[in-house]
Amino acid sequence: MMDVQRLMRLRRTQQLRDLCDEIEFTTSHLIQPLFAVDGLQGSVPITGLTGNSRMDVESTIRQVGADLEAGVRHFILFPVPATKGKKKFDHSFTSGVISSLRKEYGSAFTLWVDTCLCSYTEHGHCCVFGDGNAIDLPATLEELSRSAVAFAAAGADGISPSDMMDGRVAAIRQALDESGFGMTPVMSYSTKFASNFYGPFREAAASAPQFGDRKAYQIDPRNRTDAIQASVRCALEGADLLMVKPGMTSIDLIQPIRERTDRAVGAYQVSGEYAGLALLAEKGLTDFDRALLETWYVFRRAGAQFIITYGARRAASIGIKVQR
Ligand code: PBG
Repeated sequence: MMDVQRLMRLRRTQQLRDLCDEIEFTTSHLIQPLFAVDGLQGSVPITGLTGNSRMDVESTIRQVGADLEAGVRHFILFPVPATKGKKKFDHSFTSGVISSLRKEYGSAFTLWVDTCLCSYTEHGHCCVFGDGNAIDLPATLEELSRSAVAFAAAGADGISPSDMMDGRVAAIRQALDESGFGMTPVMSYSTKFASNFYGPFREAAASAPQFGDRKAYQIDPRNRTDAIQASVRCALEGADLLMVKPGMTSIDLIQPIRERTDRAVGAYQVSGEYAGLALLAEKGLTDFDRALLETWYVFRRAGAQFIITYGARRAASIGIKVQR
């Protein structure tokens, strides 16, 4: 009897599987987070985030040097200032980190800067509050815009707003344009859920909310309509790149967002997802690097153009090609 389709025929050898590979990517598609901490001495490993530490400026510079050697091309900086405030924030620490990295490595790398207020505010929320702890949106947008311009002026290549305040992309885009940074792209955390997978990050960034939660501004995981609309809105406001976050729990949204916006959509493999794999491996229940690779393949298969992952710096060592 004739066997019209044997799916296993093309799975038989490595070379046949490679021929059919639909998700090929290089280290240039991965973005490595960096936590630069004001007032810290040296570097301190972050619980669960294997291979990642909170670092002072010197250590950050050294780490980026090693990462460049390992083929990392994109970084996203999470600045953790020592002093926290309520309404007006000082960006000198962040600007200093950006300009030091720029001075050291020139254009060898692309530096995105996370733009949010939660590491700057006493209360750990991503906004400025007015009376009765109501979100003061105009004041929040003004502070976000002011920080975006400060980061661009210090040498950031791209601005990455993660606060989920309505209208932030438009406000930031306008401020950048008016300040002579019309060519600085905005990579928006456009579909960002109120998630339980941000734990290790909040410890690293000292950004856990001191009261309540973020459900009044981040998206409810039950809602697909809001999730897609949030990215559509960012695109209309001028975001150049879009993102879903957490990546794995938003996997179903990448394709519809691409289709609705005609923008490239990335996935953020957040701290809890990455740490989950690390902890499985620590208990001997999986091979960390292979599990990591599998998740990246899935992000690419689902249509993610880029992946923000705490494992970007291990990518070359586990077989991902470096762009030449
Ligand atoms: C800041 C921000 C968060 C993350 C990225 N930017 C935390 C949050 O929204 O609470 C999470 C990233 C991660 O968990 O890896 N708003």
